[in-house]
Amino acid sequence: MSDVSRANFGSKIGAILAAAGSAVGLGNIWRFPYQTGNDGGAAFILIYIVCILCFGIPVMIAEFTIGRHSRSNTARAYQILAPGTQWKWVGRWGVLTGFLILSYYAVVAGWTLEYFLQAAGNTFIGKTPEEFAASFTSFTDNLWRPVFWLILFMFATHFIIVKGVQQGIERSAKILMPILFVLLIIMAICSILLPGSGPGLEFLLKPDFSKVNSGVLLSAMGQTFYSLSLGMGCLCTYASYFQSDTNLTKTALNVASIDSLVAILAGLIIFPAAFSVGIQPDAGPSLVFITLPNVLTQAFAGLPWLTYILSTAFYLLLALAALTSTISMHEVVTVYLHEEFKMSRRKAAWLVTSMCSIIGILCALSMGVGKEYTIFGMNLFDVFDFLTAKLMLPLGGFFISIFTGWYLDKKILHDELNSGGHLPLFVYKAIVFILRVVAPIGIGFVFINELEIL
Ligand code: TRP
Repeated sequence: MSDVSRANFGSKIGAILAAAGSAVGLGNIWRFPYQTGNDGGAAFILIYIVCILCFGIPVMIAEFTIGRHSRSNTARAYQILAPGTQWKWVGRWGVLTGFLILSYYAVVAGWTLEYFLQAAGNTFIGKTPEEFAASFTSFTDNLWRPVFWLILFMFATHFIIVKGVQQGIERSAKILMPILFVLLIIMAICSILLPGSGPGLEFLLKPDFSKVNSGVLLSAMGQTFYSLSLGMGCLCTYASYFQSDTNLTKTALNVASIDSLVAILAGLIIFPAAFSVGIQPDAGPSLVFITLPNVLTQAFAGLPWLTYILSTAFYLLLALAALTSTISMHEVVTVYLHEEFKMSRRKAAWLVTSMCSIIGILCALSMGVGKEYTIFGMNLFDVFDFLTAKLMLPLGGFFISIFTGWYLDKKILHDELNSGGHLPLFVYKAIVFILRVVAPIGIGFVFINELEIL
């Protein structure tokens, strides 16, 4: 059911950058470093890379195939490819997951705006480590400020979504992604050149496997899905806008490489600098908001202008990276409502923006005034992160692999993978084998292990 009047990305590079824009975000620059810091540095990174190769790239190819072949939103895609079956629930599950992630993701995205403003207002210089920690807590405890930034961020996302696929999504990715990349490289070089950065590099490059347990495996797997925007139909939706001769395997390899490179660069920015000023790497989610400004002010104590430029640029680029990701989540839900419930695109976007803002407000408040309300010892924000990244996304990935590996007509998969360039037969066979056997068993195994220790 190819609907020729449906929007398309105008160019192949636009498609790659839009998918990479979705993948690269807070997951790489905020979540990856703190997971790495908590879970043992290089060992975690190695497992993460194995997860990208074993689960990430094959599941991405599967999502691309489903999306491009059906040329529709992720829920309808399964109805087109598997009419009359229950597979449609995989798509709906994805829409729900995307909706939940967007709601809490936008809270952290909002923090980046606050920190951008603080950095640009030159408020970092001269603060002590305790003051950085106190100012983060007083910000998240505040009733209004996180909520204000969250709503502003949702509106920025809304604005681009309403502009549509080529004008909004593709264009913003084409401009933002290259800027982001250049800024990250400059900052990583500055960090590595700091005196005493060696142990930080060692932490990133020299694995210590004694810290690895099944919780670390689940974290690495969750991080793979989270960082590559997999398991909820996000890239499936984007692939529905790919041109029919876009090479899916190459695009998947490009997106996964860009995404991993950005994560490693974020690590190279944070850890060498943190170790050089004697800060522990396991600060958790506040790493980028407490540790990093602290590191930047201490590391360049004699050069306040450098602290100013780097910190302002960093939070700006973090906000922009988050924006290209929130756009992709918003798009999944918006196009679902638009196509399934015959709403106008604008109306669908409004509905998503307002619902996500409301849930986001609850998440934001759960870090501050609502701290004492916990579920299983976690506040609402942490519950959302755990539920989506560690349970819902891998589960989505599990069913996407099974669907593409076992159910989907192999002719469709073969044709999709061979359009835009010939794929060697053994690579095709390897992809099918991974989707049939390796990914489902691997994901299932990590799951069972983790649920036992829960
Ligand atoms: N991948 C993005 C990041 O790293 C976040 C994201 C966007 C996402 N779309 C997603 C995560 C879909 C899971 C599923 O920040």
